[in-house]
Amino acid sequence: MKVAITTTAKYLPDGVLSNFDLEKMIDTTDDWIKTRTGIETRRLVSKGQASAYMATEVGKILLERSNTDKNEIDLIIIATITPDTLLPSTAARVQHNLDAQNCWGFDLSGACTGFLYALETGSKFVESGNYKKVMVIGVDTMSSIIDYTDRTTCVLFGDGAGGVLLEPAESKNGIIDSLLRIDGSGGEALIMPGGGSLHPASADTIKKKMHYVRQDGKTVFKFAVKGMANISSEILKKNNYTGDDVKLFIPHQANKRIIDAAAKRCRIPMDRVLININKYGNTTDATIPIAMDEAASNGLIKDGDLVLTSSFGAGFTWGSILIRWGN
Ligand code: ACO
Repeated sequence: MKVAITTTAKYLPDGVLSNFDLEKMIDTTDDWIKTRTGIETRRLVSKGQASAYMATEVGKILLERSNTDKNEIDLIIIATITPDTLLPSTAARVQHNLDAQNCWGFDLSGACTGFLYALETGSKFVESGNYKKVMVIGVDTMSSIIDYTDRTTCVLFGDGAGGVLLEPAESKNGIIDSLLRIDGSGGEALIMPGGGSLHPASADTIKKKMHYVRQDGKTVFKFAVKGMANISSEILKKNNYTGDDVKLFIPHQANKRIIDAAAKRCRIPMDRVLININKYGNTTDATIPIAMDEAASNGLIKDGDLVLTSSFGAGFTWGSILIRWGN
């Protein structure tokens, strides 16, 4: 059975943090950020809003756009590294907010590759034949784990959510293939060391700023270019396609230079690459579903188009999913 992405949705909070705002907060410039990353603005949640709020907004749009009753949803998978709370899960909160009475759900942690992990997981449930409607949502409130005095990380990230509804495909369209990977040897290069079972929150972990994201930007950059380019080329080759066949490449939005390099290595011209990092920065689990929704809503992808997605993230995690768009 083929599995189709039948509906897309996104939610971006109203708060805007521009490079010019950051110039007033840290030692940086709009020019440095734009040249090194491609980012101009990012969105931030308001006080009291967090991942479950944004994911719920996405869930509501998915139900409305697909004309689906809340009680028809079988499963909710939330890809996030910034759950509202470690327990209960964000999926439980979203289920409650949507009042979806006939489903179960769980959170999945794969950092920036989390949405692709969740898409693969959700599609297997649909493929089993036991699940007809699966909501897969990628969401992150990165502002909750970013140190806004650290110029090497705070310029990169933003908050947001995006999601899709997976259903059995009615035609030959749908998810074609996926290649997903993990390599924990890169763990120290991108890490939030505090707050888990190894270093539970304490006065000491707070003093040492262990509840913020830390990264070795150069190591992550090199890995990201290689990982995204290689896995994208591999999945195309495995399915007898080339970059020429791809109607739209939807890469994880972490850095415009990473996207440019990965597209070049896969020989995909830049006019067939979705880039919105300038508006939202890196929203981690949300970049790909937000971009998918923009592409679908703006008519950049239509039924039958070949869509290549690719991502990398902390772990390291990386992967690629190939889709024949439409139901
Ligand atoms: N403004 C001004 N100067 C800065 C800033 C800033 N915001 N940040 C760093 N600099 C300085 C550095 O201190 C350094 O100064 P120095 O030469 O005096 O030491 C100089 O700029 C160059 O710094 P580099 O780190 O060499 O800059 P680089 O070109 O590598 O760009 C960046 C840094 C943008 C972080 C890049 O390495 C990158 O994008 N890496 C990948 C990061 C990423 O994608 N992370 C998310 C992964 S996804 C996930 O799972 C969450």
